[in-house]
Amino acid sequence: MIRVSVVGGSGFTGGELIRLLAYHPEVELVQVTSERLAGMPVSTAHPNLRHMSLSFTSAEQLAPVDCLFLCLPHGQHIARYTEFQGIAPKTIDLSADFRLNTPEAYDQWMNIDHPLGHELQNWVYGIPELNREALKLSPHATGAGCNATAVVLGLWPLAQAGVIGDLPVITEVKVGSSEAGAESQASSHHPIRSGCVRSFQPTGHRHTAEIEMILRPYGVTRVDLSATAIDMVRGILATSHVYLNQTLDWRDLMGIYRDCYQQEPFIRLIANRSGQYRVPEPKYLAGTNFCDLSIHWDARSNRVVVLSAIDNLMKGASGQAVQCFNLMHGLDETTGLTFPGLSPV
Ligand SMILES: NC(=O)c1ccc[n+]([C@@H]2O[C@H](COP(=O)([O-])OP(=O)(O)OC[C@H]3O[C@@H](n4cnc5c(N)ncnc54)[C@H](OP(=O)(O)O)[C@@H]3O)[C@@H](O)[C@H]2O)c1
Repeated sequence: MIRVSVVGGSGFTGGELIRLLAYHPEVELVQVTSERLAGMPVSTAHPNLRHMSLSFTSAEQLAPVDCLFLCLPHGQHIARYTEFQGIAPKTIDLSADFRLNTPEAYDQWMNIDHPLGHELQNWVYGIPELNREALKLSPHATGAGCNATAVVLGLWPLAQAGVIGDLPVITEVKVGSSEAGAESQASSHHPIRSGCVRSFQPTGHRHTAEIEMILRPYGVTRVDLSATAIDMVRGILATSHVYLNQTLDWRDLMGIYRDCYQQEPFIRLIANRSGQYRVPEPKYLAGTNFCDLSIHWDARSNRVVVLSAIDNLMKGASGQAVQCFNLMHGLDETTGLTFPGLSPV
């Protein structure tokens, strides 16, 4: 069995990791940390895990394990890098601390002078569909941003095929409230958040940096991202508008997506052009590691609209982290992740 621990286990992504790792056939879940709830059962924070006998410990009491998952707010891993590196030979960090590949990008997008800039190249960006071979060889994976995951998986086939034109790609993500984590804020108070359609980041979203970092080598230099909070707990729907550099029809485009994704266990291409379920809907993905995709061709404008949906806490965070973990440990990457969502939900 592979021994693992989760740091920041009382939060939303930590709770999802406990749920997944406790039932993973190759894993022994050793410790789960919370400073606030040390000594208390994990069900204090996660009522869906009420049957588990595991209790939270302080991060100061972490014992050596084979792999450490970090689910902390941005900056905490940087601050305690040496301490955490001493716990396990392999680390998977869900925060943004090592996602961008240059100190300049941290300066530009996060306004921080990254003190461990020399370490950035040692972390593999954790979207397996893009970086599978690198993940198999790396002791360090950094979780990708949840919005970035939804957008990148939608655009990746077009970028690889070299058909994206010179105009910027415009993308809008509609997101659920769990993106903001378990700690409440004035803006997430139920009477304020419930029923909202709030454009909380029309410009300047940090995940833009990740999306452009991934697509730049394919000649895509501008992706303009806006984010809107909607009345949903889990889930992201990304709508990306792409102007092409050549004339292609829907069948050509589906060919590009099939070539790219037909072997992918967690990407589901929706090919129905009629009927009720012809577009991705985040609610049917809740709790699963799937990304559902559909493409829509507008001949009038030579534009493709790509719809991509995920669960932000699963394919956008903890599910994808387990997928990376499986690859990093020589396991089938679907281990512990092969379940569909609920319907109706
Ligand atoms: N939510 C998402 O959809 C999502 C998706 C992808 C990536 N992420 C990233 O994943 C990370 C965790 O997100 P989350 O949504 O799970 O956050 P969260 O619900 O707010 O949980 C944060 C966790 O960090 C712990 N913590 C907070 N401050 C700490 C400190 N100073 N020292 C030690 N532990 C501390 C908390 O434990 P205590 O009980 O001790 O307070 C809690 O367990 C973030 O970096 C986030 O950006 C989130």
